[in-house]
Amino acid sequence: MINSDLTISNLLSANHLSKSFGGLRAVNHAQIKVQTGTITGLIGPNGAGKTTLFNLLSNFIHPDEGEVIFDGQPIHPLSPHEIALQGCVRTFQVARVLSRLTVLENMLLGTQKQTGENLMQVWFKQSQIRTEERENKERALSILESVGLAPKAYDYAGALSGGQRKLLEIARALMTRPKLILLDEPAAGVNPTLIGQICEHIVTWNKQGISFLIIEHNMDVIMSLCSHIWVLAEGTNLANGTPQEIQNNPLVLEAYLGD
Ligand SMILES: Nc1ncnc2c1ncn2[C@@H]1O[C@H](COP(=O)(O)OP(=O)(O)OP(=O)(O)O)[C@@H](O)[C@H]1O
Ligand SMILES: [Mg+2]
Repeated sequence: MINSDLTISNLLSANHLSKSFGGLRAVNHAQIKVQTGTITGLIGPNGAGKTTLFNLLSNFIHPDEGEVIFDGQPIHPLSPHEIALQGCVRTFQVARVLSRLTVLENMLLGTQKQTGENLMQVWFKQSQIRTEERENKERALSILESVGLAPKAYDYAGALSGGQRKLLEIARALMTRPKLILLDEPAAGVNPTLIGQICEHIVTWNKQGISFLIIEHNMDVIMSLCSHIWVLAEGTNLANGTPQEIQNNPLVLEAYLGD
């Protein structure tokens, strides 16, 4: 028998994940899978445990039980930073950008494995460091250009609108050349025009080979982007399937109406 978790197509696979806060079981034996190359959705009513599940998938918090496999490796021994180096980056429900740094400086925070981070190498590899810094800056400006934020590159990130901050956070995630990006509500608080643009960027990046797992309450976004959707309610798996299967599932409707 072939264990589906071991097939190459599962870029991310989590099983039996549980997390309690005091007496509250926020995530309860949850399972989720993201197949390589897909845009996968994660939906559920407020308080269903979606963000907590993201925190577990990226090891920002540790599970009480269960395991997460990313790209064939268990992630529990790794820090969030090391998980990002392996190719799995996430964004936050409330965008975490540093307001008193410029947009470009925020982008450069996303760069990793730099030679200049090692003090000895600062002395002995100065030209390599300068080359890396120039390449990182060029890459940052090119990504900013592609998302329309290049004119803001030297503005403080604090001057951006809420939607532009979300876009900056996603753009920064790209700096690490990720295999998978976990997006926590990329459309929340974003104006409809910018939502459309963010969706177009996600489709473009996906065509370039990046997989996505997206939490979103905006059903138009989820239904138009995702090939597979997981539904969480009260910390447990309620359903998973194609957008059409999820739309036609009475249990899903019931969970939302009961919200
Ligand atoms: N650090 C924490 N300490 C205590 N309780 C928490 C903590 N984080 C989350 N919870 C609780 O766990 C439950 C799940 O929260 P979570 O934020 O994961 O839900 P969500 O599905 O992301 O909701 P939303 O759609 O509103 O963002 C909620 O009842 C929440 O209050
Ligand atoms: Mg949330």
